[in-house]
Amino acid sequence: MGETIRIVINNEIDIVVARQKGRELSKAVHFGIVDQSRITTAISELARNIYLYASHGEIRLSIKEENRKKGLEIIAEDKGPGIDDIRKALEDGYTTSNGLGAGLPGVKRLMDTFSIESVPGEGTKITALKWTK
Ligand SMILES: Nc1ncnc2c1ncn2[C@@H]1O[C@H](COP(=O)(O)OP(=O)(O)OP(=O)(O)O)[C@@H](O)[C@H]1O
Ligand SMILES: [Mg+2]
Repeated sequence: MGETIRIVINNEIDIVVARQKGRELSKAVHFGIVDQSRITTAISELARNIYLYASHGEIRLSIKEENRKKGLEIIAEDKGPGIDDIRKALEDGYTTSNGLGAGLPGVKRLMDTFSIESVPGEGTKITALKWTK
């Protein structure tokens, strides 16, 4: 394993492509149908945020292996405006775009690990991982 798939996000079609690649990869790792949906939802939300706030960026999907467990890691990275207040961005309902503010808190709930690195004016890198049961 150890393969990484990279999907460049430049437009709305790329969001769908990222989601499809996530579905394929999570099937290959034998996630159940519910976890497959959690993972693809997380990928869509992160890709949509890249498209909305940074215009361009990428999603990297990697298969991980630890203690006979397999996992799928999502990295969403962009060189957009960054997030001023990460704590706020993780609150349910916080949005700067008239969205629902449900994306990032949702991704955090759907995945097993979640972290944000973001520097205003430089960009954002979000890493989230889910392990098989
Ligand atoms: N990649 C990013 N670059 C810059 N800012 C971001 C990025 N992702 C999220 N944000 C900021 O964090 C806020 C919260 O994001 P979140 O996805 O939770 O909600 P939303 O996109 O506003 O609404 P929803 O996802 O529910 O449609 C966004 O409104 C935006 O200000
Ligand atoms: Mg969002």
